Amino acid sequence: MFMCSCHEDECNLKFALQELRNPGGPDTTIVALASLLPPVVIAVAVISIFYCYRIHRKIKLDKKWESNQKCIKHPNMECSIMLDDDRSDISSTCANNLNHNTELLPIELDTLVGKGRFAEVYKAKLKQNTSDQFETVAVKIFPYEEYASWKMEKEIFSDINLKHENVLQFLTAEERKTDIGKQYWLITAFHSKGNLQEYLTRHIISWEDLLLLGGSLARGVAHLHSDHTPCGRPKTPIVHRDLKSSNILVKNDLTCCLCDFGLSLWLDPSLSVDDLANSGQVGTARYMAPEVLESRINLENMESFKQTDVYSMALVLWEITSRCNAVGEVKDYEPPFGTKVREHPCVESMKDNVLRDRGRPEISNSWLNHQGIQLVCETITECWDHDPEARLTAQCVAERFNELENLDRISERSCSEEKNTRRLYRKHKQVKYALQILCLK
Ligand code: ADE
Repeated sequence: MFMCSCHEDECNLKFALQELRNPGGPDTTIVALASLLPPVVIAVAVISIFYCYRIHRKIKLDKKWESNQKCIKHPNMECSIMLDDDRSDISSTCANNLNHNTELLPIELDTLVGKGRFAEVYKAKLKQNTSDQFETVAVKIFPYEEYASWKMEKEIFSDINLKHENVLQFLTAEERKTDIGKQYWLITAFHSKGNLQEYLTRHIISWEDLLLLGGSLARGVAHLHSDHTPCGRPKTPIVHRDLKSSNILVKNDLTCCLCDFGLSLWLDPSLSVDDLANSGQVGTARYMAPEVLESRINLENMESFKQTDVYSMALVLWEITSRCNAVGEVKDYEPPFGTKVREHPCVESMKDNVLRDRGRPEISNSWLNHQGIQLVCETITECWDHDPEARLTAQCVAERFNELENLDRISERSCSEEKNTRRLYRKHKQVKYALQILCLK
């Protein structure tokens, strides 16, 4: 602001600021205050608004939580979804995943029911200490070398917000020392109908079964992907990353529950692009979305991971539809891309089918004669779109299935009303005929 313009040596030796002040100009303190005031006022206003918003949101969430707690006590209301209604659920009197006992559960292994990449699954008896009674459970046993897979799945299962009727019910995780070394166990509910692939291989299903299996699958995936629980509590979305018919179990009421979370990932907003990039190309090649096959997922957008799950879900919905008697002649079960690739195709051969040839499982014209199947096929086609952004969300698929179920119920009701009218009409004619005979007599 001030310049010394003398030239001799040490001419500014007696320099004093007050002497240089411009007596007629504005006071610098006032200038400083005047320029600082607007940003300070704006900052205070923004902080106050944000604070009020947080308080308002907290009150709203607390109210919602309270009302949902009430719903849980009244299972007929919408939120009863959080309660266990399947008879195969493990009773909470035995143990649950919140039980931090270090003691091992009294379990007796029975038969081997499944073999996966990292572990084996056994049917087992969970004994009640006091009597001969037991509950049937499933035990997934990881060998010592697969500690990382066990730990990952255990952590995902321990997320209390994962609990849902269409997600396998978790009991507890244990580390066991055996004669053949250390093992890692995951103890869950047991479902005697086995996995969806096995079920579809052995059964032809009806249109109503398709609605149950497909709707529950979409609701399970939608719950996984959601950022809130059915009761409105905030939740970190999870992506499965290995959805396929052998990773889905069929419950006694013919609804699905998702299992095998060994490759799952929490979509935590704090994850960096590098963290996501390091998680790599995972899953089963047959079910991999085109962008996974070519390792070109958009890491900037967390939704991309959900879109890959939706593609895999579309293939499973196609498998379910292919075994439904409403499509006309039902062929033997075949996995998606069944005859075109080997039993365990590699990424390169799937690239040829899905990327180079833009191939998808066949939807034959005869399937479209059924109006409901036609709507399901439209949904499937929108879910396996080459462009990940063009795919539907799992929530949208779940809503479409809900609508189909409602339409089915309405048409069933109008059918039975129509049947009743026809029955009444026939009765009326029979009475009239009987009266005529009587009159004649
Ligand atoms: N296969 C894998 N997990 C299973 C389970 N929990 N119940 C039945 N079969 C299974």
